[in-house]
Amino acid sequence: MRTINLNAQIKVYERREELPAELADLLKQADDAARNAYCPYSHFQVGAALQLVDGKVFKGSNQENAAFPSGLCAERTALYYAVANHPDTAIRRLAVVAVNPANPLTEPIVPCGNCRQSLLEYEHKFGQNIEIIMAAEHGPIYVANSVADLLPCSFTNDYL
Ligand code: THU
Repeated sequence: MRTINLNAQIKVYERREELPAELADLLKQADDAARNAYCPYSHFQVGAALQLVDGKVFKGSNQENAAFPSGLCAERTALYYAVANHPDTAIRRLAVVAVNPANPLTEPIVPCGNCRQSLLEYEHKFGQNIEIIMAAEHGPIYVANSVADLLPCSFTNDYL
């Protein structure tokens, strides 16, 4: 018998002022994006801002639906718009923030499993890590160096 160790590190910044400027800027754009959330069912507003390696930024927010599975998370709204329009440009980083007025968050939002899997696909496609910045309105900010760090032991096209 042997074991496999799954090791990943997440950097924690206690305040937004501590973030490197380009990460803080992208997070601010995610804040803006959260205002466009359509979330009449959960009232949980999520904003995402995705930056390509050429600097272009695309924003997304969660879009809910009366038929619940038809909605989409903020991260994938931004991701699919970006890659549908810029299929040949790698993704540098993505910032995601959540605002929950009824129950203010004290810890950052982290992308759901489905979003991690979706983002990982493009990390592999471009051979370029995607930095993930995670936050709430207030409180600490998490920064992961790659999607692979957030989704260890993952299924990729290497299996196909
Ligand atoms: N949501 C996101 O947009 N991103 C995540 O990573 C987690 C959850 C959305 C989906 C739904 O509209 C609401 O938050 C509550 O789950």
